[in-house]
Amino acid sequence: MSLWKVIDTVKSFIFYDADKEFYAQVFPGSVDRIDLMRLRKMRMEDLPQVLEIEAKNYNFPWSEAIFKDCLKSFNYSCWICDELDTLVGYSIVSMAAGEAHVMNISVDPAVQKQGVGSKLLENMIELAENKADTIFLEVRPSNRAAILLYEKRGFNEIGIRKGYYPTVNGRREDAVMLALELVTLF
Ligand SMILES: CC(C)(COP(=O)(O)OP(=O)(O)OC[C@H]1O[C@@H](n2cnc3c(N)ncnc32)[C@H](O)[C@@H]1OP(=O)(O)O)[C@@H](O)C(=O)NCCC(=O)NCCS
Repeated sequence: MSLWKVIDTVKSFIFYDADKEFYAQVFPGSVDRIDLMRLRKMRMEDLPQVLEIEAKNYNFPWSEAIFKDCLKSFNYSCWICDELDTLVGYSIVSMAAGEAHVMNISVDPAVQKQGVGSKLLENMIELAENKADTIFLEVRPSNRAAILLYEKRGFNEIGIRKGYYPTVNGRREDAVMLALELVTLF
């Protein structure tokens, strides 16, 4: 990552959002909605909102206990995206032994197709860069929205896991395995 990119990232976390919120209030419409959405690390107190979105998005949602384990584990990086204090999406990436794995990425259906998923995915990729060579994930072949999101960012199909997912009709669905080689500077 270049020095300017590092500075921009730090600015976006510390100063820039305050400016954007100010401009958005003074000149409504002057700031894109996506620019008012901020990323930060997930906290235990976020879990009620996270679980609400999880239940809306998946037939087999993760339990609270799974999220708690992820939050406690050193190998998992858990983030949320909020818009003026309303949680609109979250992501979890694991990093261990030179490999990163997207474990979860989920956006409130009311806010989908507005760039939140891309923002969360880009953040996971940046977190994994210089810690892992490759970032992997599994996705249901029926999940076209997610597959298009990943392919747009450069992920490639590397295989199929047979019968990986449960389905509502009691059968199993394969998983498509995708991977993206990461930029490493060292
Ligand atoms: C997959 C998901 C995270 C995408 O989040 P999002 O905020 O809607 O994604 P973005 O707005 O950043 O979209 C980025 C790209 O993804 C693709 N995409 C996202 N939603 C799409 C949809 N409903 N139909 C077609 N393409 C879609 C498009 O290529 C889009 O680029 P474009 O806007 O230039 O067309 C979201 O749909 C979601 O939460 N789904 C339920 C949970 C889930 O399935 N997670 C993935 C598990 S593997």
